[in-house]
Amino acid sequence: MRVLVIGGTEFVSLHLVRALIRDGHEVVVLNRGRRRERLPAGVRTIVCDRTDHAALRATLAGERVDALVDVTYAPTTGADVEAALEALAGRLGHALLVSTGRVYDHSLPIPYSEDTPRGLYWGEYAKNKIDGEDVLMRWHRARGLPVTILRPTHVYGPLNTRNNETFVFDRLVRGRPILVPGAGGWLRQLGHVEDLADAIATMLGAPTAFGQAYNVTGEEAVTQVGLVELIADVIKRPLTLVHIETRRGATPVPLGQNLVYDCHAVYTTTKVRSQLGIRPRYTLAAGLAQTFEWYLYLGLDRRELDFSAEDMLLK
Ligand SMILES: NC(=O)c1ccc[n+]([C@@H]2O[C@H](COP(=O)([O-])OP(=O)(O)OC[C@H]3O[C@@H](n4cnc5c(N)ncnc54)[C@H](OP(=O)(O)O)[C@@H]3O)[C@@H](O)[C@H]2O)c1
Repeated sequence: MRVLVIGGTEFVSLHLVRALIRDGHEVVVLNRGRRRERLPAGVRTIVCDRTDHAALRATLAGERVDALVDVTYAPTTGADVEAALEALAGRLGHALLVSTGRVYDHSLPIPYSEDTPRGLYWGEYAKNKIDGEDVLMRWHRARGLPVTILRPTHVYGPLNTRNNETFVFDRLVRGRPILVPGAGGWLRQLGHVEDLADAIATMLGAPTAFGQAYNVTGEEAVTQVGLVELIADVIKRPLTLVHIETRRGATPVPLGQNLVYDCHAVYTTTKVRSQLGIRPRYTLAAGLAQTFEWYLYLGLDRRELDFSAEDMLLK
């Protein structure tokens, strides 16, 4: 298939490009051209800022693609998603949108399935993603365009641009304690980036997936402290946990970019498994071990980091 990926050079979208090339697809990426050297050979880049809708229309005017995978969050509004569909109207086989599990109303009881009501618990991010999802579903119902929505949760793995698992690695390899807000009992569910890329690749052109939204993540739910303990076990480093009670207005306790917040985040994956037979290759432990190898390979354990804010909290 000829696949156009919006993004292509950072995290989820770069892993997707690699998976598509592995599977023998022809891949074109659209981005602002800042990290072209990261792309595998044979991938063509269309340079364009997706938020410039006139430029998008002009650059995509001659393109015909079997699938569009709209990955990047620029931040991407519903109007931006619609502009991409319009720019390819009549020349597009299947549109896939990487949305997020954060479209669900996280004040509701866990776990969140595809039938859980969506809401604005996560503010502007949720609003933009919900708007983007609605644009796709409108094009599906009104114009018959095959569309599929993916809702990943915390994505981890090599090249991660979010400081989550690397946050814990950074402290454990230096023998530093991990500060935990309160009991650290909020549940998380992480998904490996290669499993997400493989799931997208499997959905391309799959009629069962047309008009559907799917949660795509790993199988294991784990508390914040449970995750830290698992990482210490996997990378074989001693662990000291320091629980810090947080008061309103006090300095927040750092625990990775996306791990710190106060609510559960747990999702069912029954639909993607039963309808499409998609299941992850990585257990959480195996994925963390592989990510730690990447971290050591890049020498990230030797980089300079500033822990002064944490030292202040410890005092
Ligand atoms: N990471 C998570 O835990 C997580 C969880 C749930 C959902 N998601 C969703 O997963 C998606 C992927 O996120 P990611 O962080 O891995 O990023 P990514 O897909 O690697 O996106 C970055 C790419 O987008 C391009 N880009 C950025 N702004 C652009 C613009 N205005 N126009 C055109 N291209 C642009 C960048 O290249 P240039 O800079 O050269 O333009 C780069 O290639 C997002 O939609 C995110 O909401 C992520």
